[in-house]
Amino acid sequence: MPDIQRIIDTIAEEIAGAPHRGRVADYIPALAKVDPMRFGIAVVAADGRVFTAGEADAAFSIQSISKVFTLTMALGKAGQALWKRVGREPSGSAFNSIVQLEQEHGIPRNPFINAGALVVSDVVLGGGDPRATIGEILRFVRYLADDDAIAIDMDVAGSEARTGFRNVALANYMKAFGNIERRVEDALNVYFNQCALAMSCRQLAMAGRFLAHDGMHPGTGRRVVSALRARRINALMLTCGHYDGSGEFAFRVGIPGKSGVGGGILAIVPGEASIAVWSPGLNERGNSQLGSLALERLSDATGWSVF
Ligand code: DON
Repeated sequence: MPDIQRIIDTIAEEIAGAPHRGRVADYIPALAKVDPMRFGIAVVAADGRVFTAGEADAAFSIQSISKVFTLTMALGKAGQALWKRVGREPSGSAFNSIVQLEQEHGIPRNPFINAGALVVSDVVLGGGDPRATIGEILRFVRYLADDDAIAIDMDVAGSEARTGFRNVALANYMKAFGNIERRVEDALNVYFNQCALAMSCRQLAMAGRFLAHDGMHPGTGRRVVSALRARRINALMLTCGHYDGSGEFAFRVGIPGKSGVGGGILAIVPGEASIAVWSPGLNERGNSQLGSLALERLSDATGWSVF
């Protein structure tokens, strides 16, 4: 086992001095206030040991990383039928793009672009009401992380609901194709709230453990998903988890990862570790600039890669 603590301490030091930190997301006003100097990392190893450096216990907005958890729930509810409503191919387009939807009859390319995640939220909503569904998502994430302190940041949820015009457009557009079944505002309500989940790197890395453990919850020994489903969620994270930057992330880091515009990344090394990093500055594709660098350094130093 490599000396994880030493490796992440060295990474945290490098990141603290990095001159180019990217730009914080400013299209969601509540996120524009976050200090780009902040950084945290947490690694939960396969044997359960947790290694942290930087502000690993500071909560941040997980944003699109929530799409991993709602995809897991939607697959539990709809099973394979989900794939009639959302594809499994990288889009090569921005996370909030609408262009492919017209050509592809309202079927989003994958569950991690915003359009795909909105369909997934509609599936998770099912016949329920938005409030109860948001509660269900929160309980699921708390269960995965073994941590009841996880909460939704209402300021972020409200900020996004007031300014999320692109998501409103995407949801309405898919509704016109019949690919949003519930009321558009209900699917959006679920989506905005799941994106506003506030979690620390430690909590996020804990919540990702089942994907590093063939679908098992290591705390309870109970199965969250089958080994095959865990493998497939990891495959989607690798191919689509960083949108039009997924190829670059796979090239540089070589492990499944899901980013969010809050600057977090959840990365899974099957059989080895669940990792979360946070650095709020984003690159031009909306993925954490220094979070990606930190993971690149970590995979270089440990040899962790799926290749
Ligand atoms: O819908 C949005 O635009 C945000 N709530 C989430 C986007 C996001 O995190 C993209 N990830 N890098």
